[in-house]
Amino acid sequence: MIELRPLHPVFAAEMSGVDLRNPSSRDLLEAIDAAMDQYAVLVIRDQQIDDDQQLAFAMGLGPLEDTPAVVDAHLNRLKHREMVDISNLEVDGSILAADDRRRMFNLGNRLWHSDSSFKATPAKYSMLHARLVPPEGGETEFADMRAAWDALPEAMQRKIEPLVCDHSLIYSRALLGFEAFTEQERINFAPVPQRLVRRHQGSGRKSIYLSSHIGTIHGWPRPEALCLIRDLTEHATQREFVYSHRWQVDDLVIWDNRCTMHRARPFDDHRFKRDMRRLTLRDRAPTLEQPVS
Ligand code: OGA
Ligand code: MN
Repeated sequence: MIELRPLHPVFAAEMSGVDLRNPSSRDLLEAIDAAMDQYAVLVIRDQQIDDDQQLAFAMGLGPLEDTPAVVDAHLNRLKHREMVDISNLEVDGSILAADDRRRMFNLGNRLWHSDSSFKATPAKYSMLHARLVPPEGGETEFADMRAAWDALPEAMQRKIEPLVCDHSLIYSRALLGFEAFTEQERINFAPVPQRLVRRHQGSGRKSIYLSSHIGTIHGWPRPEALCLIRDLTEHATQREFVYSHRWQVDDLVIWDNRCTMHRARPFDDHRFKRDMRRLTLRDRAPTLEQPVS
């Protein structure tokens, strides 16, 4: 029997009583969508699935992103090109060298972000499956952007509601001092516009669409834009809006990028292996083409 247990006062729940090794029934997929609409982060433990089974399950939920934005894609360790390698591992399974460009680039996941907000049509759900986890650290934190919107003073809500931001991977990596992009990557990662406030389709609630990928607000001087984005990010990631997930092997966590942010926490990544694999569902359209009110 499918059961739901809340993990946090404002969002996030654990779903139990499901086995994702076999093709999922319509009923299960609908139960997951309904739980996602309400909780935005869903933890499903003890799922011994391989890449093929994770892919089959994800495809049941909706259309996938098929070209993950990574650097050095020719060094992909995984067999499905839709699958994003969230690990500190080399193609042969050893730990990446400290100065490896992929490691530098992946450190961007430590910043609060929403997956693929730098793509014209951004991400809907992401699902991350844990294959190897370090003994300590390496948690993933999630923050609820609907609760953050609800808690904003009305004057601030009015001020930010019409704003449009530019998002790019180049902006988020610049925050960490990573600027080693090739000419082709600069073209691939050119900024895209997204609404700062959106209405979450599943719950009808408004949500702040924040991400470390934001580099400016249309019509604003950049320093002023980045001050506002920083204030909003501090507001939205206060502990009361945050659920921290402590990983166990075979956890599958699904989150809704339309109304949450997340970030990775550090661990001793020179000594321990952390192997996680992500699939990402596409949203239905660019946010500017989605109704806000
Ligand atoms: C991701 C991500 C965080 C983590 O998979 O999109 O940001 O904790 N992961 O690995
Ligand atoms: Mn991410």
